[in-house]
Amino acid sequence: RADERESLYLVSEFANTYFQNVLHKTDQGKAIGLSYFKERGFTEDTIKKFQLGYALDEWQAFTDEALKKGYNIEFLEKTGLTIVKENKRFDRFKGRVMFPIHSMSGRILGFGGRILGNDKKAAKYLNSPESDIYHKSKVLYGLYFAKQTIAKQDNCYLVEGYTDVIQFYQTGIKNVVSSSGTALTPEQIRLINRLTNNITVLFDGDEAGIRASLRGIDLILEQGMNVKVCMFPDGEDPDSFAKSNTLTDLSDYLTEHAKDFIQFKASLLARESKNDPIKKAETIRDIVNSISKIPDQIKREVYIQECSKIMDISEEVLFSTLAQIHKKDY
Ligand code: CTP
Ligand code: MN
Ligand code: MN
Ligand code: MN
Ligand code: MN
Repeated sequence: RADERESLYLVSEFANTYFQNVLHKTDQGKAIGLSYFKERGFTEDTIKKFQLGYALDEWQAFTDEALKKGYNIEFLEKTGLTIVKENKRFDRFKGRVMFPIHSMSGRILGFGGRILGNDKKAAKYLNSPESDIYHKSKVLYGLYFAKQTIAKQDNCYLVEGYTDVIQFYQTGIKNVVSSSGTALTPEQIRLINRLTNNITVLFDGDEAGIRASLRGIDLILEQGMNVKVCMFPDGEDPDSFAKSNTLTDLSDYLTEHAKDFIQFKASLLARESKNDPIKKAETIRDIVNSISKIPDQIKREVYIQECSKIMDISEEVLFSTLAQIHKKDY
């Protein structure tokens, strides 16, 4: 079993080297892949640091090369790098720029591959499937590069995608990770919790981004961690925002706009319907529900006071609502 896992790592590491070589050393890789990354504003250093690559637009270029080098088809199939169908073999990734996904110790677990341009017919990102070495719910993209800075800064920025992580890192904010395509899981939060108690959620400035941050908040609170949320202007994501701003501007924006979860939820209400009493009641209930997830009693109390002030409602009502929620739970 351990042997087999090691074989999967070795195949993945071969693929990682191969995709990087294709990016840097082939005509197609340079003309299409490398220029794509440069257009996105990634420097040569960044591309090398994150070990970005390119998969040729051919049916089995990678698989042929791997077999030629002696890698076993069984492991190529198990990592999902090769798809076997009726005795034919196909590369999973073709004509895509490649983002390798590292373990905490820097081993290669899998890949995300992005199509070039914005062709709506193909999935924008194609990812490696689950395997004995790649459990998506337990991995955070970028953690290998971010872990030291997360501990040092005592905060972790959580973003949605690969390019958000890379652009932040390049701009100079290195304590950043992404759940990359899966909804945030308790296991992923636990990985961060070993390094810091503070998470700042930075999701895309669209409806999907807001919904994802709301889901994340309660999970983070449940683990006794502190959570702030920072929204970007509509249509922007951390990548696009970081690309068009200096480190100073980006840092200032984050400091200025990172809100505690109560303020975040309250400001969503303000945005939707300022003077609607029913909406306001729903928001207050929603906030108290989030507060009920906090394991620490003193923190719960402080947040109730905060909510009382921001939402302009008595602490007594909030405490009795909190008590009702707790009764239901236990
Ligand atoms: N994702 C995915 N499959 C998709 C779309 C998205 O796995 N079909 C994941 C990717 O990890 C992606 C993240 O969800 O990075 C966030 O999605 P989105 O905001 O749509 O992509 P961006 O990272 O902003 O991609 P880009 O800037 O390259 O368009
Ligand atoms: Mn902790
Ligand atoms: Mn998005
Ligand atoms: Mn995005
Ligand atoms: Mn983006």
